[in-house]
Amino acid sequence: MTSLHLLHLSRNAPSSPYLLSSFFSPFPLKTLNLKSKHTSPGPALCVLQWNRKPELAGPTPRVAVITSGKGGVGKTTTTANIGLSLARLGFSVIAVDADVGLRNLDLLLGLENRVNYTAIDVLNGDCRLDQALVRDKRWSNFQLLCISKPRSKLPLGFGGKALIWIVDSLKSGPSTPDFILIDCPAGIDAGFITAITPANEAILVTTPDITALRDADRVTGLLECDGIKDIKMIVNRVRTDLIRGEDMMSVLDVQEMLGLALLGVIPEDAEVIRSTNRGYPLVLNKPPTLAGLAFEQAAWRLVEQDSMKAVMIEEAPKKRGFFSFFGG
Ligand SMILES: Nc1ncnc2c1ncn2[C@@H]1O[C@H](COP(=O)(O)OP(=O)(O)OP(=O)(O)O)[C@@H](O)[C@H]1O
Ligand SMILES: [Mg+2]
Repeated sequence: MTSLHLLHLSRNAPSSPYLLSSFFSPFPLKTLNLKSKHTSPGPALCVLQWNRKPELAGPTPRVAVITSGKGGVGKTTTTANIGLSLARLGFSVIAVDADVGLRNLDLLLGLENRVNYTAIDVLNGDCRLDQALVRDKRWSNFQLLCISKPRSKLPLGFGGKALIWIVDSLKSGPSTPDFILIDCPAGIDAGFITAITPANEAILVTTPDITALRDADRVTGLLECDGIKDIKMIVNRVRTDLIRGEDMMSVLDVQEMLGLALLGVIPEDAEVIRSTNRGYPLVLNKPPTLAGLAFEQAAWRLVEQDSMKAVMIEEAPKKRGFFSFFGG
């Protein structure tokens, strides 16, 4: 039987052991001497391995919407982990939870008890914008803004224009952020349209299954119609064991189907669920897990407007020589 390995190549990244950590097939894991996918490669492979700060490409502040179409594929997880990775790299970040009524970015970040005001309160004149921003105590250059209270309905009149006003106010605030990340709700209705309106670029999160891909394809079309041309995708919850057994679509297949630049590939990792429930994003774990490293790499690429390639290497079946008859 042939075996398939997933290989990630970054376009601009210098070759380093850190690059090696982007492999997550059994072969490179052995190369890195990792015991399992939950085992950390150790601090030697952390994001600052390259001994430089990534160079911020493009005009700032960069406003990126994290979207998917299908629900539950990992938008909020991506927003939290990429946002905190960017903050750890030294960039100032404001994450906007635009999932009106079903917000949960505050929970993932462990900031739920500190959200006193929302953007709706700002628009109603009940507080100032800076009062609605929640600064993370772990990384003070990371701030959270929730649009509304949990379980509230999208207020009448709140739409793309209101969100543009909020984003413009954030841009012209006392400390202009480098990145504004907008966590988009699932679906393609009013909440989606509102969330994408102020964005200049998009991170499309998908899982390698046919339902998520169909929705991702639809969303890509809508983003393009809205004038967002810079769309990169993150393929989440990838399992190389299933890909090898041809029970899951490969990242290469996903890329060919959607035709989008690849920002990152995140393995399925039980640690993601644990960190979600603890309100402690994965990338803050010490030592980092493989999924955490994958998010950090994606953040690095986002900064440099870089992308990666997924290549399938097909190993030829072993030749059965004379000794194979004897179990050799
Ligand atoms: N790589 C991963 N490995 C394991 N579990 C994951 C991974 N990514 C996300 N999850 C889990 O999937 C669930 C949904 O994730 P998340 O809330 O980020 O999705 P979402 O796209 O924001 O959902 P919604 O559309 O409802 O806003 C969470 O329980 C999360 O812990
Ligand atoms: Mg979400």
